[in-house]
Amino acid sequence: MNSLITHHLLLCVTPSSSRCCDPSIGKESWLRLKKIISELGLESQRNKSGIILRSKVDCLRICKEGPILLIWPDGIWYKKVTSEKIDKIIDEHIINGNPLEEWILKRTPFSISKKYST
Ligand code: FES
Repeated sequence: MNSLITHHLLLCVTPSSSRCCDPSIGKESWLRLKKIISELGLESQRNKSGIILRSKVDCLRICKEGPILLIWPDGIWYKKVTSEKIDKIIDEHIINGNPLEEWILKRTPFSISKKYST
């Protein structure tokens, strides 16, 4: 069974050499992100509106105003993503499709190559 992946969330929470935030703040954000995605069943193959992937990454090459959360394919980079902001980002942006403009650091829209489109 093929399942549609609608979003991939990349959160910079490197524990070893974090330059964009305090590692303890990043860890809290990561734990909240994992929990809310699990609670809402967003990673489940049974999620009819598509699968949401999440990954913890070492550095997204912003290195300020972290934790940084990058959401693909939207190309939206959120800044200062503390655990308190995670639920609202999931609810407003991921579920309802309304990015939170006041928390966006930058946008890098994704361009799908015709080579890979069907
Ligand atoms: S350490 Fe977080 S973006 Fe570089």
